[in-house]
Amino acid sequence: MSRLSRVRQAAWLILAIVPVVGAADPFTKQDLSDWQSAYDQVVTAGRDAFTDPKLGNNGVVCAQCHPNAANTHPETYPKFQKQLGRVAVMWEMINWCIRNPLEGKDLQPDDPRMIALQAYITQERRGVALAPGKH
Ligand code: HEC
Repeated sequence: MSRLSRVRQAAWLILAIVPVVGAADPFTKQDLSDWQSAYDQVVTAGRDAFTDPKLGNNGVVCAQCHPNAANTHPETYPKFQKQLGRVAVMWEMINWCIRNPLEGKDLQPDDPRMIALQAYITQERRGVALAPGKH
């Protein structure tokens, strides 16, 4: 391909992309308030799940060992977890707690309760600097 045709091709590409990006609908104040309230509801569901004995089978709840999500350290994930013997993300460690102290069954990563638990934990630790891999 000649240099001129490469330049033409690049120019066409730019002309094709710019209007598409530029035309994207900006989100409205209503969108922002809807998204915030959807988020707040999930955080609240996570807070409720922290005291929900139905996550396990022995009456034990998360908040007994992690009041206000204490000692959950979401900012340190992913990291090596010795209980799992490998680098893990936080939901895997939540399932470790569901299986062990709560004697329950693993939640799927996209289970709404798993998403809510993580939303609550992370919201409680907002503002803490990310420190992946830290112990
Ligand atoms: C009987 C006490 C107990 C209960 C109940 C419990 N955990 Fe844990 N949790 C622990 C222990 C012990 C660890 C391991 C700490 C470590 O070695 O990192 C842990 C680790 C964690 C971690 C990782 C912490 C870190 O520093 O990396 C998360 C997240 C967590 N638990 C969430 C939960 C959630 C959510 C529940 C409820 C489903 C729960 N835990 C229930 C004792 C408990």
